[in-house]
Amino acid sequence: MGGERPPILVTRRLPQEALDRVDARCDMTLHDGEGAMDRGQLLREVAGKAGVITLLTDRVDDEFLDAAGPQLKIVANYAVGFDNIDVDACTRHGVLTSNTPEVLTETTADTAFALMMAAARRVAEGDRFLRSGTPWIWGPLMMLGQDVHHRTLGIVGFGRIGQALARRARGFAMRVLYHDVYRPPPDVEEELGAEYRDFEELLRESDFVSLHTNLTPETRHLINADRLAMMKPTAVLVNTSRGPVIDEHALARALRNGQLFAAGLDVFEREPSVHPDLLACENAVVIPHLGSATVHTRLAMANLAVDNLFAGLWDERPPTLLNPQVWEQSTSTGRSSS
Ligand code: DGY
Repeated sequence: MGGERPPILVTRRLPQEALDRVDARCDMTLHDGEGAMDRGQLLREVAGKAGVITLLTDRVDDEFLDAAGPQLKIVANYAVGFDNIDVDACTRHGVLTSNTPEVLTETTADTAFALMMAAARRVAEGDRFLRSGTPWIWGPLMMLGQDVHHRTLGIVGFGRIGQALARRARGFAMRVLYHDVYRPPPDVEEELGAEYRDFEELLRESDFVSLHTNLTPETRHLINADRLAMMKPTAVLVNTSRGPVIDEHALARALRNGQLFAAGLDVFEREPSVHPDLLACENAVVIPHLGSATVHTRLAMANLAVDNLFAGLWDERPPTLLNPQVWEQSTSTGRSSS
């Protein structure tokens, strides 16, 4: 792309340091509105761009790629999850696409642990109670929760974030079970003291179940009414992955009926809406998709997205590329100049 300033779209305001990097080298169009662009505006804005930094709220599919045009080189997603991106469509269009793994692992594991603690020990409910001005006095049976320490944690999806949660759990003397379609090497199990379980066994044995799967057709409603019925009535369910992994209607019913002690949720089936029945459950702790939301981590994600963007624009391999086939194809046909 030589010395020219390629036209770039950034679909939402990112930490300033990262925007300054883009602005210094590119002709940047920044959507600086309150929320996401509507679909029509997104398709109009992407037309003619050489690169885009997208968010998990932007759907990248054939329609988007057609609207962008054949000069588009890279879609750099500002998230580790990439269920908003049709990676195969990017590959078909010869467009590189990337995500932001690693940099948010520890922060998201902190959020999952915080939700476990808050839901088990009724932190948000206690806060609401005090603010309501209801008269109270310390009592032996007041607002009893569930212990976290020395309990069994079942981790569903044992990738980077799941494993980071397991490390935290060891500090609380928890027994750690996990389920994943990929088994990590035995030394990882040993180091984390984690035991593999069949998915349904894990649900039956665990006092806490924390979800860390990608959203795919196989994991949509992985937690449904039948699976909830397998869990202990004293159990706590935590989700920092993607909302549609849980059938929210079934979860609200289980929480209301005392079939489950509590839930801690960072993500929702129809974000940004939250199922009204969940909002009515005192035993649901709900936060607005804050898993990676710290100053340090959001900047690290933005810088990684910009690194990917620049690499894609200037014919280097993006550090966290999702479709290496496109890169290999471009190098074999001599597109790469580096
Ligand atoms: C992600 O990165 O996938 C999160 O959901 C936002 O940090």
